[in-house]
Amino acid sequence: MKHSSKNRLMPRHQALFTKETLFDKIARSVCRAGTLPRKELYEAWETARRVRRRYKGGRVVDLACGHGLLGHIMLILDNTSDHALCIDRKLPDNARKLSQTLLTDWPRLVGKIHFKEMDIEDITIYSHDVVVSAHACGSLTDVIIDKAIMGNARLAVLPCCHNLKTCPTGNLTPWMEPTLAVDAVRAMKLQSRGYDIFTAKIPDTITPKNRLLMGHPRSRDE
Ligand SMILES: C[S@@+](CC[C@H](N)C(=O)[O-])C[C@H]1O[C@@H](n2cnc3c(N)ncnc32)[C@H](O)[C@@H]1O
Repeated sequence: MKHSSKNRLMPRHQALFTKETLFDKIARSVCRAGTLPRKELYEAWETARRVRRRYKGGRVVDLACGHGLLGHIMLILDNTSDHALCIDRKLPDNARKLSQTLLTDWPRLVGKIHFKEMDIEDITIYSHDVVVSAHACGSLTDVIIDKAIMGNARLAVLPCCHNLKTCPTGNLTPWMEPTLAVDAVRAMKLQSRGYDIFTAKIPDTITPKNRLLMGHPRSRDE
């Protein structure tokens, strides 16, 4: 089974996820909803579990959320978060269908997932937030980093679609591949703004855009 497949997981695919693990339970739920490309299930899971190892609690803010699976899994993995706010300029038509299916299987999430169709520019981030974002295209990742810094919040981004015209490479390209230079500059920016950072990768069998950048204000004891 290719984890990078963009084919939609459908109810019949539940047969692929038969184990009594949390991941398989989430996967069966996603299959029942019949809305999500397979790749997005793996991306959201691998991102959320790495973030939750570091950052517990807080309001989860899933920016450029698409279907919002990342926000849901963040709450499934940690019961101490009050709620998740899933923001996208244009929510996919079936985001709520996926959410309903997950809420049926995790009733403790009922009333804790809030979708909002709005521009990321208009969100206010607070210091108790955990900002997460998977594949916010190009410089949208930079907007998200700036929002988190402004709010003094914990942050995890999985950047994609690096736009070398709008995203600074810090003159590092003679030394490294340009998209890596963009992410290196992002990491250094967080550090220069008083953040401790952690870098990780999700498996490249899911996506080549697999660099996960996490950070929290140095003043916090994480
Ligand atoms: C590549 S998708 C990623 C979706 C999801 N996070 C995922 O990993 O599957 C990028 C998303 O960003 C949203 N988006 C783009 N610009 C935005 C903005 N300025 N404010 C809010 N959402 C935006 C798009 O509508 C789209 O759903």
